Amino acid sequence: MAEVIVVGSRKAAGALVAEAIERLVAQQPDAVLGLATGDTPLPVYRALAERVRAGLDLSEVRGFALDEYVGLPVSHPESYHSVIEREVVVPLGLTPGSIHVPDGRPLGIETAGERYEDAILASGGVDLQLLGIGTDGHIGFNEPGSSFASLTRVKTLTRQTRDDNARFFDSVDEVPVHSITQGLGTILRARRLVLLAFGAGKAHAVAAALEGPLSASVPASAIQLHPRATVVVDEEAASRLTELEYYRDAFAQKPIWDPVIL
Ligand code: GLP
Repeated sequence: MAEVIVVGSRKAAGALVAEAIERLVAQQPDAVLGLATGDTPLPVYRALAERVRAGLDLSEVRGFALDEYVGLPVSHPESYHSVIEREVVVPLGLTPGSIHVPDGRPLGIETAGERYEDAILASGGVDLQLLGIGTDGHIGFNEPGSSFASLTRVKTLTRQTRDDNARFFDSVDEVPVHSITQGLGTILRARRLVLLAFGAGKAHAVAAALEGPLSASVPASAIQLHPRATVVVDEEAASRLTELEYYRDAFAQKPIWDPVIL
């Protein structure tokens, strides 16, 4: 089962995950990171940027974003190409040519999923995949009903997701209807998963994903199938977990030979 770590703040979550990534990169300078967008992973990127300013070198790190909107120009400030460039590549000093985002351009979209899968496989696979969670239980843009075996492909966004993401646009009508996203099968191939969630708005999705039945209706429940998944949540996002005391206890009693996340 996933290891659940309850932290006091988003900043603490960022520090914890950044520390694990630093340890990964120390062992493997060209590690492959799975990059998530949205608000949730920002504390991790901020904490890593601080470490980079203090001398950490991430220039050999490779990366694959989870998803992209279909039909939004790459130059649009809210395309995930732009977001990854602005929030991850530049502040972390990554090498732009080593960081990949699915190709959401309509021309050639039929083959974009397969091309992305090939690129991930050619890299040797993702070492550590960061994940947020949507209020409807999605990861990446794998909306409810997504197959656990799915690979990178086009998905139609739910109204809920478009409403949630409308804050990044002038209105919900500007939020694209389609996305291209790594599948649940793609995500499950990563060697380690780290899912983060903050705030009461995520509590329901977190509880369903971790403690509900495995179900395509809750795409994030797929992480129950992964042997090395860590879930980092604040108190609010953890508030609906039935086994919360057990998770706290297990973390408090964590053996010293069992490092956090890695
Ligand atoms: C978005 C992204 C997901 C993200 C989720 C939650 O639609 N495609 O990768 O995890 O929704 O977003 P946030 O972290 O902003 O709450």
